[in-house]
Amino acid sequence: MKLVTVLPFLVVIFLCFCLPILPSQTIVKVGKSITGNHKMVSAGGSFALGFFTPVNSNFTYLGIWYNTIPEQTVVWVANRESPIPQNSTAVFTIGDDGNLVIFDEKRELIWSSNVSFTTKELLTSNSTVGALLDDGNLILRHGESNILWRSFQHPSDTLIRDMRFHFNKISGQQTLISSWMRNEDPRPGNFSFGINRSEGRTSYYIWNQNSVYYRFDDSKKGYTLGITWYISTVTINENVYITLAYYRSLLRVVLNPLGNLQVMVWNRNGSNEWNVEFQAPQAKCELYAHCGPFGSCGIRSSGLCKCLTGFEPRFSTDWANGKWNGGCARKIALGWDGGDRFLKHENMKLPDHAISLGNMSTRECETQCIRNCSCSAYACSINACFIWLGDLLDLGNVITDGRALYVRVHFSELIAHGLSGNSAQRYKILTAKIVSAIFAILLLVSILAFIFKIKRLKRPGKMDGDSALVSSVPSGSLVGKDDMKFLQYSLQNIRDATNNFHEDNKLGKGGFGPVFKGILTEFGEVAIKRLSRRSSQGLEEFMNELKLIAHLQHKNLVSLLGCCVEGEEKILIYEYMPNCSLDKFLFDPTLKVKLDWVTRFGIIEGIAHGMLYLHKYSRLKVIHRDLKASNILLDQEMIPKISDFGMARIFGIDQTQANTKRVVGT
Ligand SMILES: *[C@@H]1O[C@H](CO)[C@@H](O)[C@H](O)[C@H]1NC(C)=O
Ligand SMILES: *[C@@H]1O[C@H](CO)[C@@H](O)[C@H](O)[C@H]1NC(C)=O
Ligand SMILES: *[C@@H]1O[C@H](CO)[C@@H](O)[C@H](O)[C@H]1NC(C)=O
Ligand SMILES: *[C@@H]1O[C@H](CO)[C@@H](O)[C@H](O)[C@H]1NC(C)=O
Ligand SMILES: *[C@@H]1O[C@H](CO)[C@@H](O)[C@H](O)[C@H]1NC(C)=O
Ligand SMILES: *[C@@H]1O[C@H](CO)[C@@H](O)[C@H](O)[C@H]1NC(C)=O
Ligand SMILES: *[C@@H]1O[C@H](CO)[C@@H](O)[C@H](O)[C@H]1NC(C)=O
Ligand SMILES: *[C@@H]1O[C@H](CO)[C@@H](O)[C@H](O)[C@H]1NC(C)=O
Ligand SMILES: *[C@@H]1O[C@H](CO)[C@@H](O)[C@H](O)[C@H]1NC(C)=O
Repeated sequence: MKLVTVLPFLVVIFLCFCLPILPSQTIVKVGKSITGNHKMVSAGGSFALGFFTPVNSNFTYLGIWYNTIPEQTVVWVANRESPIPQNSTAVFTIGDDGNLVIFDEKRELIWSSNVSFTTKELLTSNSTVGALLDDGNLILRHGESNILWRSFQHPSDTLIRDMRFHFNKISGQQTLISSWMRNEDPRPGNFSFGINRSEGRTSYYIWNQNSVYYRFDDSKKGYTLGITWYISTVTINENVYITLAYYRSLLRVVLNPLGNLQVMVWNRNGSNEWNVEFQAPQAKCELYAHCGPFGSCGIRSSGLCKCLTGFEPRFSTDWANGKWNGGCARKIALGWDGGDRFLKHENMKLPDHAISLGNMSTRECETQCIRNCSCSAYACSINACFIWLGDLLDLGNVITDGRALYVRVHFSELIAHGLSGNSAQRYKILTAKIVSAIFAILLLVSILAFIFKIKRLKRPGKMDGDSALVSSVPSGSLVGKDDMKFLQYSLQNIRDATNNFHEDNKLGKGGFGPVFKGILTEFGEVAIKRLSRRSSQGLEEFMNELKLIAHLQHKNLVSLLGCCVEGEEKILIYEYMPNCSLDKFLFDPTLKVKLDWVTRFGIIEGIAHGMLYLHKYSRLKVIHRDLKASNILLDQEMIPKISDFGMARIFGIDQTQANTKRVVGT
């Protein structure tokens, strides 16, 4: 919730606590009244309450106005429906029943706050008081803290700071703001303003008597200057409250007698008068359903209204003469036989009477709409699908905050308009489905071929030397014929190869120790890892483990070429990878561009192959336990090679259990 919307409530709460210390002139109680030119002023002096007579009027009303500005600006009127003739002297006080009341001089009731008290309250009803709070709220209070009635909940034509009025989501009951009849006549006029929440969607409405005059949505994109910049809603339990979103003291939103919602600001540039900051509706197109059913309103050279594609004016002569409210009708009736399609309209103000179907994908939304015979359009937002049944009313092209609307038309309309709708997407999806089906079949075939090949290889005497896919584990002893490839070096050899572990030769530092680049006569460039962690195993076990790991040979695994074990020094020699590790590529902005999708896919596939080998096809079951981008090295051809596998084994961490005792690495 925005602070702006919370603040007014905090102020109200704060003021409620302050009530007991209000000076006495700010209240009416039994035996105290307001009459004639007397006025009641709020504690901070911001607002005043009293009788007023508008210019050129023969009637008097009880109202609340700003007390701080010279121009009497009435924000609330009590007796709008029962004006007091000017020759009569009225009294505002607490009635015998404890309500706030206005009597005329014959003590006839003109107006009452009309609160029904409980029996207990009735017994002590002579202890109620009326008080004007400094935010302009007139309250009826019983005892010190029990507020029975608030003028804020019975608004006139003005919304002021701290004021909020409600709409009950369950009962649909709500308070409305209603315009004055004329500028000098506070009696209720033809226009009213409020919200209606239907099917999970809140819209604000201005009604002209019983018909909708103007509608706007509670769009959360508040970047464009619209009326929702100034008005917002707060939902508390089942009530939605309308309140000012814009926190400025001398700002009010008023529904004027012509049906315009105006944001007024006092003294904007030293003018010492009320200035209209914003007004809605602004254009003819904003008027409700200006173009009738299926007519779209927008500023265009051919006139404001246009029928949606696939529709034509219902009354063509009226339409030609600019009488648009008849709207449009379908050129071709819908098929209902699965032959209907959707045409996409971009940047639309969505029609009225949306039905929310909740969170679902665009496709699901489309399916829901096509299934329902009366559904004529759908639209999707991030977490909701909306459908519309029957006529589409009040839609238009908008420049900002527009949405895509999919309108249902007969299939032939799509052909007539060059297949531009969502159906084009459907064909794409269909094509994609066919392609992926073929791909899946190919994949299945190759997997079968792969398995077949392994079986063949595993059969003794059938080894054909193709060891690119599977390890050529020597049969018999662990140290077999391939053993000669795994060489042991003296520490002096390594020192020579790395220029005595010179900093210039350092490639990086892994989890198990620093890595240096070195040159060995047998292999050329190699990566030399100087282990800094101590193995929990004895030397012989360590060597055995190393030899086993050295036998894990796969295109996507970094080969262990040799080692050096002298005293405390344990060094591993790996093949050298010129293209560093994957994380360098992923997180370097310049290197990143080298990774096109083909390369990325190749890398992903390679890693998967390597892991599959380690888990399944190698003789030694190896769980990596620290697979991360920095452990994926890349060769010249960007083929990924997994490094640091088997470290868990080397360091004697139990790998036979499926669930390990602690979380290792990534
Ligand atoms: C007020 O009363 C006078 C005389 O009774 C009448 O001429 C005038 O039209 C009335 N004004 C309004 C606004 O009704
Ligand atoms: C006020 O004027 C009306 C007619 O204009 C009259 O009927 C009524 O009796 C008058 N009231 C008083 C208190 O003079
Ligand atoms: C006062 O409230 C009662 C019901 O609580 C209602 O019947 C009556 O019409 C109301 N009177 C006025 C003047 O609003
Ligand atoms: C309220 O009325 C009761 C009896 O009806 C009376 O005893 C009491 O004094 C009255 N209190 C005030 C504040 O008038
Ligand atoms: C309210 O509407 C009616 C008819 O719709 C019209 O005759 C009347 O003049 C309107 N009132 C105002 C104050 O505009
Ligand atoms: C609010 O919306 C519901 C459902 O669309 C409708 O039945 C009701 O009449 C609307 N209320 C007003 C005041 O327009
Ligand atoms: C105040 O500013 C508005 C525009 O922001 C302008 O239309 C108006 O004339 C200005 N009023 C004065 C008194 O300068
Ligand atoms: C269409 O959907 C609406 C709202 O979900 C529902 O009330 C109506 O019964 C549906 N009609 C058909 C024919 O399914
Ligand atoms: C909507 O559904 C998607 C996927 O089903 C989910 O990721 C997303 O969090 C959902 N959004 C909301 C607001 O529930």
